[in-house]
Amino acid sequence: MTTKLSTRSSLQGAGLGFRREMLDSFDEFNISAVDFLEVAPENWLPVGGLMGRQFQQFTEKFPFVLHGLSLSIGGPAPLDEPFIRSIKAFMDKHQIELYSEHLSYCGDDGHLYDLMPIPFTEEAVEYVSARIRRVQEIIERPLIMENVSYYAAPGQEMDEISFITQIMEKADCRMLLDVNNVYVNSVNHRYDAKSYIDAMPTERISYLHMAGHFDEAEDLLVDTHGDDVKDTVWDLLTYTYEKHGVFPTLLERDFNIPPLNVLLREVDKIKQIQRAASTAVPETNTIPLSNKNGDIALSATAVQATTN
Ligand SMILES: [Fe+2]
Repeated sequence: MTTKLSTRSSLQGAGLGFRREMLDSFDEFNISAVDFLEVAPENWLPVGGLMGRQFQQFTEKFPFVLHGLSLSIGGPAPLDEPFIRSIKAFMDKHQIELYSEHLSYCGDDGHLYDLMPIPFTEEAVEYVSARIRRVQEIIERPLIMENVSYYAAPGQEMDEISFITQIMEKADCRMLLDVNNVYVNSVNHRYDAKSYIDAMPTERISYLHMAGHFDEAEDLLVDTHGDDVKDTVWDLLTYTYEKHGVFPTLLERDFNIPPLNVLLREVDKIKQIQRAASTAVPETNTIPLSNKNGDIALSATAVQATTN
């Protein structure tokens, strides 16, 4: 077993979601194909005993990021501060520095993990930004907000780009740029995906997501995480690297999960695109992340904006 690009204090390359089935394969687990792993903290916070120790074997050895499901940053209920403190303790215990969440809210008291769109309004910008700042105070790290797919935009006062960029500025948070979500939304809401990518602030991006979607109709795509990544989304990833530089990028696959070797082919494709982008104008882009030791950085080989 070899570790390649990522170390436990920095992150780069291509990642994959960690699943319980992987727990028993610690000795054979070949991280050389995958540079980092992502888990939902909700699935692991309550896990102790043998399974908890097995999980810790992985976090001690490999770079992990957290991708939460139930923070409900835009929800009407008060923030669940005991839960957020338990996230912080989990991050401290496993020395995980990155916690991303969805810029949305949960449909049913945070338990069903249905992700509902936040209205794109001035009031919501203020409300959500204040809540992000509070989460960041508690976890003593930046919170990383992900652009989500949405199928209706109730009470819209501004476009999605303004909504997201204003929140990131006011909350001084970071971004998980989901390239598939950009593509799905661009078709469903009839905007130009590349213009959206162009408008995202490079300096706030922490990492990227790639995933498959389902073509329901010519003008309706559904973000399923249950299919292979479509060519249109691979092309948009290439464009994103050209525009912002190469960032750590994770393949999401939550349903209809194929054998690991099939997933690893897609992870490898991410790496190929990263290598191709890096050969244009190689430059190391290191994004410092505050933590209590002050020594954690997020790295990516960057190709600084070679296109307009
Ligand atoms: Fe995502």
